[in-house]
Parts: sequence; C-alpha cells; structure tokens
Amino acid sequence: MKRIVVLSIVIVACCLIASGWMRHSTARAQSGTVNPQYSNQYQAGGQYQGAIQNQASSGTVQAQQTFESKFWSYLLRSEPAYRNWAPWPGQGADYYPGQSPHGAFLKMYINRTAAADPVNLPHGSVIIKENYGEDQKTLMAVTVMYRSQGYDSQNGDWYWAKYNPDGTVAMKGDVRLAGRVQGCIDCHSGAQGNDFVFANDNSASP
Ligand code: HEC
Repeated sequence: MKRIVVLSIVIVACCLIASGWMRHSTARAQSGTVNPQYSNQYQAGGQYQGAIQNQASSGTVQAQQTFESKFWSYLLRSEPAYRNWAPWPGQGADYYPGQSPHGAFLKMYINRTAAADPVNLPHGSVIIKENYGEDQKTLMAVTVMYRSQGYDSQNGDWYWAKYNPDGTVAMKGDVRLAGRVQGCIDCHSGAQGNDFVFANDNSASP
C-alpha cells in the first residue's frame, strides 16, 4: 500500500514537472520577436534585399541561417502572416493538384507586391507554395521565391528557399536549399517569359 502511494506521488510530480517544462518551452518559442525591420520593410513594399545581400557577400553558413530563419519568422508573423496572403489571381485559396517535384497538392500565397502585378512580379514580390501530400493534409515542405533587386540578375533576381514544415531549411544531400539554389533555377528557367515563374505562364507546365 505504502509503495503504491509513493509511486503515485512520484508519477504526479513527474507530470507536473513535464507540463511546466512544456509551458516554458512554448513560451520561449512564442517570445522570439519579429525583427521590426522586416515588418517595416514589408510595408514599404519589399525593400529587404539589404539583408540578403549581407548574406551573399559574407557567404558564411552562419549568416545564411540568420537570414533564412529571420525570413521564416517574418513569413509566419508578418502582418498578415503568409497564410492570410492572397492566392494567385483567379486560382482560389483552395488546394490544387500539383506535380513533381512539388507536392501532390499545393497551395499558393503571394504578398501584396506580387498581387499588385502578377505578370511582371516587381522586386519585393514573394511567392509561397505549400506542398502537401496525397492526403491533402500533411504539409511536406514550403517553397519560397523572393525577388530581390540585384540579388541574382542573371536568374531573375530570385532568392529561393525550401523549408521543412518546422521552419528548418531543407537539405538535398549536403546542399542547403536556400539562396541561389541551382536545382530550383535550372528547372524554373523553363518557365515562359524568362521570369522563372510558371504561375503567370498561359499553361502551368514547363
Ligand atoms: C523539376 C522542376 C522544378 C524544380 C527542381 C523546382 N520547381 Fe518550383 N515549380 C515547378 C513547376 C512546374 C511549377 C508550377 C507548377 C506547379 O505549381 O506545380 C513550380 C512552381 C513553384 C512556385 C510557384 C511559382 C511558380 O513558378 O509558379 C514556387 C514558389 C516554387 N516552384 C519554388 C521552388 C523552389 C524554392 C525550388 C527549389 C528548392 C523549386 N521550386 C524547384 C517546377 C520545379
């Protein structure tokens, strides 16, 4: 009997400690602040290429991580967060069937700069594609294109990133899929109009 009482006390104590710890880590995750620069720059209409250029010139993995994770926070916490951005014009906000290498089902979101001129996609445009599995529920990856003046003038000035659903940068072998990603560029160079974007082609296939 005594043993059972001691055992239950130990179990209850463990639960309390565990839930306290979880609350603590959630609070920590939420307290990560948005870099105010990003929101301001977003409102000013896509002028945050400065941050990317720093990354490009220093070229260290450390700097890349800093930009990419800041960019992810910005995408999640900008006002409005990207899931409240507009869909591609005429496409509707719902899933649509995708093709390899993107998911079986896709959702696309574009920021205000892109929505204002989806044919020309001015600098500052951000296009986000959520890649879902066959079940239309499991988010497999989030692929992002961000057009930044002077970032990569040979390839339409696009900055590319593929995020895992938890916001970490996806890897292909040893290559981090963020920045001037050759694989993205090579395939997207088949899009019409030399803008590396398929969505504004007449047909959505390469
Ligand atoms: C093998 C070809 C291929 C590769 C590689 C590829 N894409 Fe795509 N991507 C497409 C096609 C085709 C579409 C349009 C059709 C669709 O929606 O699936 C597309 C659409 C997109 C879109 C929506 C804008 C648009 O062009 O219509 C984004 C954003 C995107 N891709 C990001 C990426 C990123 C980031 C990478 C690299 C990590 C990448 N893509 C690699 C073929 C590719």
